[in-house]
Amino acid sequence: ICRVNNSFGQIPFSIFVPFFPLSVAMDVFLSWLFSSEVQELYILDCMAYFMYFMAAFTFVSLLFQNVPYGRYASSKYGFPVDVKFAWFIQELPSLLLPLCLVFWTSSSKTSLLPNQLLIGMFLCHYVQSRTLIYPFLIRGGKATPFASFALAFAFCVYNGYMQVRYLTHYAEYPADWVTHPRFITGSALWLIGWLMNIHSDHILRSLRKPGETGYKIPRGGMFEFVSGANFLGEITEWAGFALAGRSAHSAAFSVFTTAVLANRAVAHHKWYLAKFEDYPKSRKALIPFVF
Ligand SMILES: NC(=O)c1ccc[n+]([C@@H]2O[C@H](COP(=O)([O-])OP(=O)(O)OC[C@H]3O[C@@H](n4cnc5c(N)ncnc54)[C@H](OP(=O)(O)O)[C@@H]3O)[C@@H](O)[C@H]2O)c1
Repeated sequence: ICRVNNSFGQIPFSIFVPFFPLSVAMDVFLSWLFSSEVQELYILDCMAYFMYFMAAFTFVSLLFQNVPYGRYASSKYGFPVDVKFAWFIQELPSLLLPLCLVFWTSSSKTSLLPNQLLIGMFLCHYVQSRTLIYPFLIRGGKATPFASFALAFAFCVYNGYMQVRYLTHYAEYPADWVTHPRFITGSALWLIGWLMNIHSDHILRSLRKPGETGYKIPRGGMFEFVSGANFLGEITEWAGFALAGRSAHSAAFSVFTTAVLANRAVAHHKWYLAKFEDYPKSRKALIPFVF
């Protein structure tokens, strides 16, 4: 009664007193949604398989139409939402939902090191690269059409719940999983991808002086090799997460991200070649020296 199990082991109950009703409410809500853990796990698995289907559907759709935001934004997809507001709000569920699941539910697996590290990777990305820092650094970004904003928000609710509920409650790894070559390789790929993504986004941001909105040729870092360096970073990041996470859920997110961002990298590459006569001819779209 005096101590509760939370994500980081046994912590004095008194720390949780202010949050106790919320924690109970979250558990009651989840047990109202699902009649048993078996049923919830079944739903989480279905969500992962449905995400593979969404990835295939999105990949095919994007062969005919670019994702309509940024340079491809169009009023056809709804009224414009301020770009900083859009990024902050649409990505927020990927941060808030996981935090609620970690701190305010009886999360049985979060005292285990592999689960903690994987949740840490997910949260790290959404704190730095998407929700709390990235949106406020954007320079002169185009407004986001409402449909893109709403779809991104829905995706973040879906994926934030699926990834983190699985990791906090169901994912089981061998005791020595963090020293397994697959976990080490996956974590290293995640880190390389995360750094590449942050560095590339920084290069893009630095192309514009405050107040500018036009486009220039990105130079330096992985942009010397590919037009979609930020996308290559993000694809690598989630591929590493999937390798380390060894689940249908993490793999589905990786496949979905690849389907969306590979298309965006190709579209940007063609756009640069058409716009800039002096665009480096040796630069590829997404995979250095290959594609
Ligand atoms: N996991 C996923 O499924 C997913 C999906 C989408 C995005 N993302 C990530 O979110 C981040 C942003 O994505 P994005 O699609 O917005 O990337 P982007 O099209 O490359 O744009 C990123 C920012 O840089 C600006 N920019 C891009 N190219 C520029 C150039 N040549 N000159 C000057 N400014 C330039 C853009 O301005 P404008 O707005 O004016 O174009 C925008 O503010 C990326 O790191 C990406 O990996 C992840």
